[in-house]
Amino acid sequence: MIMSNYTNLIDLNDMPSEWWLKVVRLASDIFDDPAKYSKVCEGKIMATLFYEPSTRTQMSFQAAMLRLGGTLIGFDNPATSSVAKGENLKDTTKIVSSYADIMVMRHPSEGAAKAAALTADCPIINAGDGSHLHPTQTLTDMLTLYREKGRLENLTIGLCGDLKNGRTVHSMCKALAGFKDIRFVFISTPELGMPQYIKDILMAHGCTFTENPSLEDAIGGLDMLYMTRVQKERFASEEQYNALKDVYCLDRKKLMKGRPDLIVLHPLPRVDEITMDVDDDPRAMFFKQAKYGMFVRMALIMTILENPKQSMPLLTGEIKSGMCCSNPNCITRKEAYLPRSFKGLGDLLECEYCDERILGR
Ligand code: NCD
Repeated sequence: MIMSNYTNLIDLNDMPSEWWLKVVRLASDIFDDPAKYSKVCEGKIMATLFYEPSTRTQMSFQAAMLRLGGTLIGFDNPATSSVAKGENLKDTTKIVSSYADIMVMRHPSEGAAKAAALTADCPIINAGDGSHLHPTQTLTDMLTLYREKGRLENLTIGLCGDLKNGRTVHSMCKALAGFKDIRFVFISTPELGMPQYIKDILMAHGCTFTENPSLEDAIGGLDMLYMTRVQKERFASEEQYNALKDVYCLDRKKLMKGRPDLIVLHPLPRVDEITMDVDDDPRAMFFKQAKYGMFVRMALIMTILENPKQSMPLLTGEIKSGMCCSNPNCITRKEAYLPRSFKGLGDLLECEYCDERILGR
């Protein structure tokens, strides 16, 4: 077993749900009275390493740290750092983590945050790893539900769009699977469908999900509709993307079929999946959701820095040096020095970085 000595947030499921709820409640309190928290991170430095484009996640993290009285270092374009000279992930993150008290990282490869945590010298927060996970977006979504619906249970949640490549919906399903009476409706096409491993997690929790390719049919039964962008950067070719990019679009007409107490969320950026005439509908919650993101990140930074050193398991499966993860986008395919670790799953093996399943024991 390989452990970390730091309180990382790589996957929400590494922490008990009480911990997430504590963060969400604290975020709600900060939202109501931010001045009370304006000095709690004085003297602390946060590093933000964004290897992939970002507006909200990056700036809300930075604004969060500044509003807590802390300061920032980092890059938002690896081309201007030593990454451009060929530096590997381990060396960059090891060094930066020795300059900072907490490090936030976004990376295009699945499993990158876990890989960095293997050698980092401060807590790491996963701000998105390829199409895998985006735990801080899920905390944002939970705060939005908590404040706008007043509950995190007994909800019918429609997830619409690119459920295959969208990390936000993967993280949300994994987290909410354990809450009472959550029912998911996957509104997608077969090409953009939810990965099987996420469906298996839902089934293991007894969390119900149905699949309905029609947004128009599904919308009337929902408490929350979560629209997502077709993830252009995850497609092998422009043609494949073009064939699917316009399959779902929420407009005023479709929204008319939604209940009066429906809320519409979107992690943003929006491309063409929500028309702008929806923005003024009181049920459109995506701009407020993005604002909540800053408060949830303030709460998260505070919570981690209150107790930054905590022994947490990172790799618990078997190290199999001769095996290679079949996901071409897995971090182990790019950073060859990483120990290749797999968990047994019947006849299959599951990569501990990206959750890809491969044949053979
Ligand atoms: C999302 C992401 O990066 O995964 N954006 C965000 O963090 N708010 C969604 C997306 O890019 O489509």
